[in-house]
Amino acid sequence: MAWKRPGVRIPLAPLLNSVMFLGETKFYSMATSTNSQDFSLNGLRVLVTGGGSGIGKAIADAMTHAGARVVVCDVNNSTKPNYVCDVSNSRDVDAMFAAIQRDLGGLDVLVNNVGVPGPTARVDEMDADAYDECVRINLGGTFRCTKAAVPMLLKTCGSIINISTSAGIFGYPLRSPYVAAKWGIIGLTKSWAMELGADGVRCNAICPGSVSGPRMDGVIEREAAATGVSPQSIRTGYENQVSMKTFIDATDIAAAAVFLSSPAARFITGQVLPVDGNIETMRA
Ligand SMILES: NC(=O)c1ccc[n+]([C@@H]2O[C@H](COP(=O)([O-])OP(=O)(O)OC[C@H]3O[C@@H](n4cnc5c(N)ncnc54)[C@H](O)[C@@H]3O)[C@@H](O)[C@H]2O)c1
Repeated sequence: MAWKRPGVRIPLAPLLNSVMFLGETKFYSMATSTNSQDFSLNGLRVLVTGGGSGIGKAIADAMTHAGARVVVCDVNNSTKPNYVCDVSNSRDVDAMFAAIQRDLGGLDVLVNNVGVPGPTARVDEMDADAYDECVRINLGGTFRCTKAAVPMLLKTCGSIINISTSAGIFGYPLRSPYVAAKWGIIGLTKSWAMELGADGVRCNAICPGSVSGPRMDGVIEREAAATGVSPQSIRTGYENQVSMKTFIDATDIAAAAVFLSSPAARFITGQVLPVDGNIETMRA
């Protein structure tokens, strides 16, 4: 483990519980330097993208409960986010990170949660613009936020959590742009863990399975419309793909995100964690 200032790498005694950054007056309690029995997020500053609703909101609530100071961004102003931001727009993202620096003085954890379902169609019937839009938001948004966050995370030995999906491991018929982006997010996770690990910054991915809620309801309705199969049969098909024969809850994803952000996960990086009741196949 090491504490790094630009151009200077200084080994840390493993028993150190906090690190003082020269030139700054604050002590930062860092996930990477405290002990592996510590599951609290006390004092950590967290940004959850797309945190106005759904899984992002559940993650924000759980991290707040665990002691973190959490801010969320969302493109949808009606969800009352701390920052209104389209993560696929570089100008929005840069303005948001400038505001976070001003408001929080830095960042310890970035949760790249934004993801749109994209179109449902076979490849020969897929609209190219809809394909591009899905990849631009899901993959491009994750890249843009991470690029802007890393200068802050390098100062705090922080961590990144990318939300992928089980489909990002298996593939998923009729949803190829979503899969392309989410599979790409796993590639980004592995690459960023390698790029940033020596500087003490961790990067992991969580792959949710089918999460109960309006988003999965919409996915099932669109799939029913595209295939002519009843929504109930499609839902049962999804449940049958899972060893535990059930959908999961957003709070289950949130629990994994809290763990990965905590000191207890200080040496976990570059990993892809499915939280899905064990999906065995993505074929009905
Ligand atoms: N719900 C599931 O079953 C499921 C399964 C696997 C993976 N996931 C992934 O989990 C993440 C969250 O999913 P969810 O079900 O909570 O989705 P959701 O649609 O309920 O919430 C997503 C939030 O992101 C916001 N958002 C959308 N585009 C944005 C943009 N360009 N910039 C900023 N904010 C934007 C939305 O306004 C919304 O508040 C996504 O990455 C999704 O792909 C979900």
